[in-house]
Amino acid sequence: MAQITLNTLKKHRAENTKFSMVTAYDACFANLASEAGVDTILVGDSLGMVLQGHQSTLPVTVADIAYHTQCVAAASPHCLIVADIPFMASATTQDAVDTARELMQAGAHVVKVEGGSNLVDLVKLYRDQGVATCCHLGLTPQFVNQFGGYRVQGRTDETAKRLIDAAAALDAAGTDIILLECVPNHVTDAIMKVTTVPVIGIGAGPSPTGQVLVMHDLLGITPGKPARFVKNFMHSSNSIQDAFRAYDQAVKDGSFPAPEHCFEE
Ligand code: KIV
Repeated sequence: MAQITLNTLKKHRAENTKFSMVTAYDACFANLASEAGVDTILVGDSLGMVLQGHQSTLPVTVADIAYHTQCVAAASPHCLIVADIPFMASATTQDAVDTARELMQAGAHVVKVEGGSNLVDLVKLYRDQGVATCCHLGLTPQFVNQFGGYRVQGRTDETAKRLIDAAAALDAAGTDIILLECVPNHVTDAIMKVTTVPVIGIGAGPSPTGQVLVMHDLLGITPGKPARFVKNFMHSSNSIQDAFRAYDQAVKDGSFPAPEHCFEE
């Protein structure tokens, strides 16, 4: 299997074909996902909730993400590895530089940062230093306290415009990937029109170039009621690797996400 790079994702965007991303936090699952054909692995700060049992992602540290990025990279997957910048770990220029250095040296190919148009300067800083970025917009879980819960974003004309303008500004600033979480389909469609980079969606409708799910969600082992955008791929699979394969194929043939996983309004 060929190594997946940013150029692979850009080709998908240019050719209007799809790619898949799952979260993984260790060598074993990273290897299973990679062998199943998944293109990109996110070492997400969701590990604070699914591995560490916290109620939010806020307690996750740079050392946590660096450790799990090393574990994923050690599996030598063919996947592009994206590592999350945790809460407040890029708040100052020095923090931003130190965090990116640690995560890239741990094996990340791209760093993901949550926010909005406030990320323009950070994207430029990283671009000048050779660090590829993924900007996470919409329901950004690190902002859960400002949002007052995990809620769909961009439902009003004003908040939708803010998201669309932010995506356009970040695309122009040179971000390499945009990730959209929990936004109505029409907002995603508008963002696809004003951007050129690969867009990854989670609860953002069918039009993004790629889709991402938290590994525990797609395997159906997250406690509690699953979010609307989640599909349990273990239901129709005989093994974890089959579930990863089914997810990858469903993303690539466009059958996931289906309307029941999306927010129309
Ligand atoms: O941390 C994470 O896993 C994420 C995904 C939900 C996109 O940010």
